[in-house]
Amino acid sequence: MKIVTCIAPVNIAVIKYWGKRDNELILPINDSISSTLDANQMCAKTTIMASPNFLDNKLWLNGQEENFDQPRLKNCLKEIKKRIYTDESKENIVNWNIHICSENNFPTAAGLASSAAGYACLVFALAKLYNIEGDISGLARRGSGSACRSIYGGWVKWCKGEAADGSDSLAVQLAPPSHWADMRVIILVVNESRKKHSSTNAMKTSMSTSTLLTTRAETIVPARISDMEAAIKAKDFAKFADLTMRDSNQFHAICLDTYPPCFYLNEVSRSIIEFVHEYNDFKESTQVAYTYDAGPNACLYTLENNVSELLAVIDEVFPTNAAREEYIKGIPVKTIQLSQDVRQKFSSLKNSRDLLKYIIVTKVGEGPQMLSNT
Ligand code: DP6
Repeated sequence: MKIVTCIAPVNIAVIKYWGKRDNELILPINDSISSTLDANQMCAKTTIMASPNFLDNKLWLNGQEENFDQPRLKNCLKEIKKRIYTDESKENIVNWNIHICSENNFPTAAGLASSAAGYACLVFALAKLYNIEGDISGLARRGSGSACRSIYGGWVKWCKGEAADGSDSLAVQLAPPSHWADMRVIILVVNESRKKHSSTNAMKTSMSTSTLLTTRAETIVPARISDMEAAIKAKDFAKFADLTMRDSNQFHAICLDTYPPCFYLNEVSRSIIEFVHEYNDFKESTQVAYTYDAGPNACLYTLENNVSELLAVIDEVFPTNAAREEYIKGIPVKTIQLSQDVRQKFSSLKNSRDLLKYIIVTKVGEGPQMLSNT
């Protein structure tokens, strides 16, 4: 019996991936850039057991047994097996059945990039189990496109690649987490139960119906990618924030241009967008950026020295009845009292109570880690 346990982080794109040139190989129509989030706050944890005595393969996700015969899981395993170096003289664990047990350390209700962390973790753990060397981002990509970026920590670019077989559609690290050490990420989990359309299906519909999508991929994203790389390299927050917010808005504009349209943002998401612009105007400099994936939850980027005030203002604008310890999870934040003028300014934007479920404060973090291998 061999047992491997690993964790892998979530990533949040600042230049979004949306649209595939090959659905089977999961090849995107544009490059994308993300930050990998600290696994202490949010991660997938996967244990894989391989044994010559297991009668079949099994899979459990968040404590529930699931069907092992899923096309994406099968594709990942098929590609992984091609990379295994087999030594005929040794017992060959490739032929053993496996049991996979995976869970998230954050509530799945958050609907945040759980498939990216999940597939990155699965592929990383399988690579450890079978001693696979070299880049494994192309293997994670076969599980879910965005998962390839969770294979690396820090700031990561997924290069769309040109080859028809996808061999150059891989993720690369642009900068480690230490590069922009005071960058913080605040996730506002919006109270909402409605189920979103899956990214995979919505992306397919966008590909066949949105006339804006190819214009975005061909004429807008390439310049945005190089501007974003430069902003990250120079730690230019204002430029970074501007690109991040514009790209999120453009992605959701494409969702509206999809026919029938996909609505991922709701009233609360939109009031957060308005609030961020008001806040930046009030501060007379860009201090916060928002970005939204295929769901209503906001992901805010800001620098460490703004976090306490920003959370106090968020509390003014989106008040809650919940106790602070229950409501603000993750990296501890010092509580501050807002000055009278700041309170007054934002009291006019006050919403009704409990529009947010909770808040996660996190930062840019490392890639997957192996916890044990026995
Ligand atoms: C909006 O990676 O979930 O989060 O490749 O079909 O599994 P599949 O899609 P997925 O799409 C993520 C889309 C996004 C943007 C992004 O993460 O870049």
